[in-house]
Amino acid sequence: MREVRVSLVRSDDLSYSVLIGRGLLGDVLADAQRLYPRRRVFLLTDANVRTAGHVAALTGDRPVAQYVIDPPGEVSKHIGTVTQILDAMESLKFGRDSLLVALGGGTVGDIGGFAAAIFKRGIPYVQVPTTTVAQADSSVGGKAGVDSRLSKNAYGVFKQPGRVYVDVATLATLDDRPYRAGLVESVKHAMVADAAYFEHLETHLDALLARDFATLEYIAERNVTIKARVVEQDVEERGIRRILNYGHTLGHAVESASGYRLLHGEAVALGILAAARIAEELGLADESVRRRAAALLGKLGMPSMLPTDVSAEALLEIMSRDKKSLEARPRFVLLDRLGHAREENGEYVRDVDPGVVTRVIAGLRA
Ligand code: GLY
Repeated sequence: MREVRVSLVRSDDLSYSVLIGRGLLGDVLADAQRLYPRRRVFLLTDANVRTAGHVAALTGDRPVAQYVIDPPGEVSKHIGTVTQILDAMESLKFGRDSLLVALGGGTVGDIGGFAAAIFKRGIPYVQVPTTTVAQADSSVGGKAGVDSRLSKNAYGVFKQPGRVYVDVATLATLDDRPYRAGLVESVKHAMVADAAYFEHLETHLDALLARDFATLEYIAERNVTIKARVVEQDVEERGIRRILNYGHTLGHAVESASGYRLLHGEAVALGILAAARIAEELGLADESVRRRAAALLGKLGMPSMLPTDVSAEALLEIMSRDKKSLEARPRFVLLDRLGHAREENGEYVRDVDPGVVTRVIAGLRA
């Protein structure tokens, strides 16, 4: 046998800055073009973001080629939307010298990163998140992709943005339901990594719900710092990055089984309650973790009960296809105390007996 080795060592620096402030939108294009000189800008956004006036605030009077995802949200997060975006870029003669600007929530950012990763074998992109979920979580860390017919985020890549612009003023126009649901990712960060931050969320809840910009800037920095410190250690989620999926094993299943009637954060809130209960049943964490999480999530207006038409069988079936599952057995991120995700022999997820999972699911109906 002969062997020829292809030795690839990454030479590109994947580091990037996340800029946080208010009223940043008008400066994004000039800044991004300083970062990526001589690139043609293609803007990806959605109909809600355009209606809210964010496209006009970003582009000013400059004509910018754009694709507007319509209908907005998870229903459009499929491979068909990606091909339409790529077709639009090609028809307009965009080439490898392009820069994609993803302006919007999690769906726009995830689709934008995916389109940027595969267009002409890859072009740079920047994220301009305009929702609480995207500002806290999805715009940072480079997870990009779409849902399949069967499960969430089934097709995707890791593609880091070149810069992220978090303008908390864009949250002023976000509808109340997605605004509150997106704050669940902040709760998640606090629960897995920072008990003092959890306490901050508990004590500043009124300011958060009043959309106080200073409070929003503070939590944006806290969220991004927690996430960056984790992603720096494990970009492609082989180990510690899995802790950022706390609440997501059941959460993704609920989201998908409900036909996306529940928003991501609402489903993850149920997933957090389930994960906290599992840790309690296994004797890993005490009951106060679940109690404090339930109180905070309740004040955010999150559901504490599963939708009645979502069966345990459907949830177990979807969880068996989860990306974290091993041999089709669902695995959970668990805490050993508030602010600390559990690690055991280098593993951050744990198999849980299906009987325990079924019992915990039943407890979310009682
Ligand atoms: N949203 C979890 C992660 O980016 O890893």
